[in-house]
Amino acid sequence: MIDIRPATVDDLLSMQNCNLMNLPENYQMKYYIYHALSWPQLSYVAEDHKGRIVGYVLAKMEEESGEVPHGHITSLSVMRNWRRLGLAEKLMSQAQKAMAEAFQAQYVSLHVRKSNRAALQLYRDTLKFTCYDIEKSYYADGEDAYAMRKQLIGEDTTKPKMINGKEASR
Ligand SMILES: CC(C)(COP(=O)(O)OP(=O)(O)OC[C@H]1O[C@@H](n2cnc3c(N)ncnc32)[C@H](O)[C@@H]1OP(=O)(O)O)[C@@H](O)C(=O)NCCC(=O)NCCS
Repeated sequence: MIDIRPATVDDLLSMQNCNLMNLPENYQMKYYIYHALSWPQLSYVAEDHKGRIVGYVLAKMEEESGEVPHGHITSLSVMRNWRRLGLAEKLMSQAQKAMAEAFQAQYVSLHVRKSNRAALQLYRDTLKFTCYDIEKSYYADGEDAYAMRKQLIGEDTTKPKMINGKEASR
């Protein structure tokens, strides 16, 4: 049995550990604490029956002046033995719901490596994100990112940007 529940400050070390095991994009503990203190409603963990954290979503709000409020997925991962059980889909759905309910987020954004087939399928096909833009050399190793968005409430702001006369697409 896996429990999907809001992350607490006590979960942050386990979330960081899960992140280190699963992704090359890693963060200092103060960045996790910043998320947990600023937007305690938005990050979720998947916990197994022994109390081990086997997945997480780390999420925040972007509230720059002049822009509509929107959420952002900073990081998402699920431990290898627990994949393809629907955990990432559930973690993402909880975070998106909380962004809209607690902060009136109009849309949610994220970045994903062009080569990350599993995550792309999750975002585009399962969760219905669209590719909004391509950010060249976004990652430290030079790989491009797809900037993806999903409308949560209000007017659609997720229409793909035009790049060289073409829509940003895969
Ligand atoms: C991407 C990741 C978070 C998916 O986690 P998960 O819990 O296995 O995903 P789910 O079980 O919720 O998958 C939901 C859907 O996403 C798609 N999907 C997930 N993993 C997939 C894979 N390896 N290949 C193809 N499609 C995949 C499928 O459509 C799947 O539905 P299905 O199982 O009914 O076919 C996980 O593979 C992971 O942690 N990867 C390493 C870290 C990472 O890439 N994070 C994202 C960074 S942007």
